[in-house]
Amino acid sequence: MGEFVRLHGVSKRFGNIHTAVNSVDLCVKKGEFIALLGPSGCGKTTLLRMIAGLEPISAGSLVIDGEAMQDKHPRDRDIAMVFQNYALYPHMTVRANLEYPLKLRGIGREARAKRADEIAALLELGTLLERKPAALSGGQRQRVAMGRALMRNPKIFLMDEPLSNLDARLRMHMRVEIAGLQRRLGITTLYVTHDQIEAMTMADRVVIMNAGRVQQIGPPQEVYDRPANLFVATFIGAPPMNVFRAVDLPASVCSLRPDVVHVGVRPEDIVFDAEGDRPGFQFDCTVSLVETLGADSILHLRASTGHGEPELSIIARKRDNARALEGQRLGIWLPLSRIHLFDQSGSRIEPALQEP
Ligand SMILES: Nc1ncnc2c1ncn2[C@@H]1O[C@H](COP(=O)(O)OP(=O)(O)OP(=O)(O)O)[C@@H](O)[C@H]1O
Ligand SMILES: [Mg+2]
Repeated sequence: MGEFVRLHGVSKRFGNIHTAVNSVDLCVKKGEFIALLGPSGCGKTTLLRMIAGLEPISAGSLVIDGEAMQDKHPRDRDIAMVFQNYALYPHMTVRANLEYPLKLRGIGREARAKRADEIAALLELGTLLERKPAALSGGQRQRVAMGRALMRNPKIFLMDEPLSNLDARLRMHMRVEIAGLQRRLGITTLYVTHDQIEAMTMADRVVIMNAGRVQQIGPPQEVYDRPANLFVATFIGAPPMNVFRAVDLPASVCSLRPDVVHVGVRPEDIVFDAEGDRPGFQFDCTVSLVETLGADSILHLRASTGHGEPELSIIARKRDNARALEGQRLGIWLPLSRIHLFDQSGSRIEPALQEP
């Protein structure tokens, strides 16, 4: 299958100045699960609303399944949406809630009931059909809201932070459920979140946005392994990637390309007990703080750069359970093969450094 949804140069201006979405290009394949990820205010909801037709597009084009969408009414776009604040009708049973969108379209009683049974089976709502929303758990309500959105067999499923009202355990559970449901149905899905774990675990590809612009599009692992710029590098991953100015690093270990301005290394890529002359940057550090997480710990380190320069702060993830102590001295090694390089504009430089 080729592209199913195609956005070309899609922009949204509110008033004359503020550009909430800036020239977004995105092609989505049929059946794909795309996560839109980015900080608050970066334009995720606005982009989704433009796709749904709830917000006119200021510039650019939107094509779905070969049809230009700009002038189509939201009702005629065959798109289902679930928002963070999905509203179920409190006075209606689950069954009536599910059937409502079909009733609005004048679909007969029998056909509605049949479809509601199918959707209830799919989402395991069968035993809840006669209950009202007040008698459901948060996760069950969320499933009903999704079920209602799916009743019409939409071409595209749009979700805007559908899990953000749920507690951490339920979110994890629903994350797996939604991903599983999406795969079973094979429905093309755009899923907005600012939770990177949701985006990384659920999506075939993630779209990272900042300030209205797309920063990178790719499979989660690729975005993690090869972030396109400093924004993506520090936005994806927790704790975030360490970023150093190249001029602050000891020059003797290897010669950096002259266009390198920043050097990054992820906390989990730092190696302890460095010894001998290995390619990369070695530091003697002092442990300033230890955060114990159970399976591993986060070490906050201060490294002296030698020549009387200010110390570098480094965050490292230590996997083994040998406790590090605050005040302890440690040798660390940033392997050349795990180092990320960025130029003056913050763009990734390829190829990475070669081992000598
Ligand atoms: N109706 C509007 N009028 C003017 N500005 C708006 C309007 N809707 C959104 N904006 C602005 O557009 C930008 C993008 O907003 P949007 O809601 O798309 O962000 P978001 O990425 O969904 O953020 P969040 O993660 O907080 O939901 C913000 O600066 C916001 O203030
Ligand atoms: Mg939003």
